[in-house]
Amino acid sequence: SRVVKLAVIPGDGIGPEVVAEAEKVLDAAVAGTDVVIDRTRFALGAARYLETGDTLTDDDLAAIAGHDAILLGAVGGVPGDPRLRDANIERGLLLKLRFELDHYVNLRPSKLYPSVPGPLADPGEIDFVVVREGTEGPYVGNGGSIRRGTPHEVANETSVNTAFGVERVVRYAFDLAERRRQKLTLVHKTNVLVHAGGIWKRIVDEVAAEHPDVAVDYLHVDAATIFLVTNPGRFDVIVTDNLFGDILTDLAGAVTGGIGLAASGNINPDGAFPSMFEPVHGSAPDIAGQQKADPTAAILSVSLLLDHLGLTEAARRVTRAVEADIADRSSDPRTTTQIGDAITARLQA
Ligand code: NAD
Ligand code: IPM
Ligand code: MN
Repeated sequence: SRVVKLAVIPGDGIGPEVVAEAEKVLDAAVAGTDVVIDRTRFALGAARYLETGDTLTDDDLAAIAGHDAILLGAVGGVPGDPRLRDANIERGLLLKLRFELDHYVNLRPSKLYPSVPGPLADPGEIDFVVVREGTEGPYVGNGGSIRRGTPHEVANETSVNTAFGVERVVRYAFDLAERRRQKLTLVHKTNVLVHAGGIWKRIVDEVAAEHPDVAVDYLHVDAATIFLVTNPGRFDVIVTDNLFGDILTDLAGAVTGGIGLAASGNINPDGAFPSMFEPVHGSAPDIAGQQKADPTAAILSVSLLLDHLGLTEAARRVTRAVEADIADRSSDPRTTTQIGDAITARLQA
């Protein structure tokens, strides 16, 4: 049998609720195969910080890094909770994992499944993937402020874009476009961010020369948000920096039926570190503990996880079970558990 060592980080808020359903589906997807999932649970997040004062210790990080993959629910407390100000769960835990485990590809597929109610009147076919850079850009925390508390305070946040970092994610995006519909859109803001935008544009042009069959275009990020709403069918692979990718993928989630369906993978394509799979959404404190969260995003993240591990058939079965469930959805509300059970049952049928 093949043993997969899986680190599970349920996290905060709806994180544990959606992860419980994702794990059920994972078990059903590998049942009857020779794959054995060997799980370790890590209690990390806002709740753990409030209890112990720890965010992510070196020991936690080393233990997680020893796994084959990571499944994460969501971390973070109520935005603005003063008790969490110093912890900075987002930087100290989530981004620390992405940076330390070199998740330079943040893969965020968007697909509008038939019969899913979305906000667009005439959406057409939507099926694109955002390849969001995951380790650089304005997320690096290379900033600072001076003269705090005076009228002359200065606060800076630097966007770091290295040739190495941009090239590797751009190459990944081109390879993905080759396997899809051979279309790649670079999204940036080169008209204003001339240095950061310049290196992205140059590297995309260079790598494009090696992929003559991929049609390449460029959009400024503001215009990209227009087309994501007016003509989302024009996109196949979008490659963009860490911050633009964050913003575009919440919008992409919204136009494809809601954030409760949006899955993601934080990928280390080199395999030096475990990749991490998580829904795009957060811990949703407003609906936590009420069984109102849609676990589909977490379940589709399991499909991305299986695919990443080379368990292609199991991944496809999960996606198909989700598609079938979505096609059957009525307007009757279901609990988080009911949705998870329904998808699990389809896998067992
Ligand atoms: P959020 O994604 O948690 O919630 C935004 C809105 O979407 C809320 O109204 C919420 O109820 C709804 N929503 C989210 N997931 C849903 C689901 N599965 N089903 C139904 N509705 C869903 O974003 P936020 O409110 O900005 O952030 C809350 C906390 O989560 C913050 O602490 C934030 O930093 C954190 N966060 C964590 C992650 C992560 O762990 N990857 C991602 C985003 C935000
Ligand atoms: C996401 C989240 C994170 C991000 C936050 C919580 C740090 O919004 O995964 O999209 O900005 O990447
Ligand atoms: Mn986000």
